[in-house]
Amino acid sequence: MSLQTTEDGRLRHLLTLEGLPRATLVALLDRAQAFIDGEGAADPRTALAGVAACTLFFEPSTRTRLSFQRAAQRLGADVLAFDASTSSTSKGETALDTFRNIEAMGVRGFIVRHREDGAAAMLAASAQPGTAVVNAGDGRSAHPTQGLLDVLSLRQAKGADFGALKVAVVGDIRHSRVARSELHALRALGIGEIRACGPASLLPDDATLAGCSVGGDLDAALDGVDAVFMLRLQRERMEEGLVPSLEAYHRDYGLTAARLRRAAPDAVILHPGPMNRGVEISDEVADGPQSLVLRQVANGVAVRMAVLEALLA
Ligand code: CP
Repeated sequence: MSLQTTEDGRLRHLLTLEGLPRATLVALLDRAQAFIDGEGAADPRTALAGVAACTLFFEPSTRTRLSFQRAAQRLGADVLAFDASTSSTSKGETALDTFRNIEAMGVRGFIVRHREDGAAAMLAASAQPGTAVVNAGDGRSAHPTQGLLDVLSLRQAKGADFGALKVAVVGDIRHSRVARSELHALRALGIGEIRACGPASLLPDDATLAGCSVGGDLDAALDGVDAVFMLRLQRERMEEGLVPSLEAYHRDYGLTAARLRRAAPDAVILHPGPMNRGVEISDEVADGPQSLVLRQVANGVAVRMAVLEALLA
């Protein structure tokens, strides 16, 4: 039995998409789509009535934190928002003590973001029976709900036959928990081809890119692809000197309208946000007709409803 699933395969926590069966991913995507289509079997407004959930974020966030709060509210949960900057974290209280204290208040759902790899799993391992932890981003490791909402956005745009699709994952893969979760989801759903592209200094040196073609030539990576998964240049996690300058990065790895013409004419562009406009993506691509950026954000609420319902209802 893994930490995140029970012996009969049910989710107890959602910490990573790595190793999750395709059927589990598809069930979450289908449930999210049902919420979008207004086809929830039961009234979603009461699914989590009487359940308390806390967004326990030790790192900044706009999309993930607020869309989890929106998702929990739409399911009827009571939502507590933990703000690290005004909490006793500033007095030196550990994440584990913080978690245990909030759990002692009767909170059953924890949505955790932390800069340390494995932080959400560490809290999940300490959780009482009946408490669920969702990883909302830990270090460079995983951001599972982002991976889910990205593949849901791709499925809406291109259909469920992922085996027929070629995609490019572009940019700062080395520091990206989003890329790792996207890659796990794409592989589990049987994607036809993944091209990973970025400067050698921003490519991971572990097994993250197993099965991908890997290169540093963006024009070649874009040739004929059906979707481009752009990544944020994570300057806050970066050692000095990994990119020569933002201008050079944009010249070599920025997605512009001219470059995008190399992809299939109906290719779609995804970016998890926040975007460094003018660095990894130009305004005209970010705001253009092929961009799914705001669709991804909208899908994030539905995906997070599906996850919270699966864990807490
Ligand atoms: N995509 C994403 O995780 O955005 P936030 O950091 O704003 O939550």
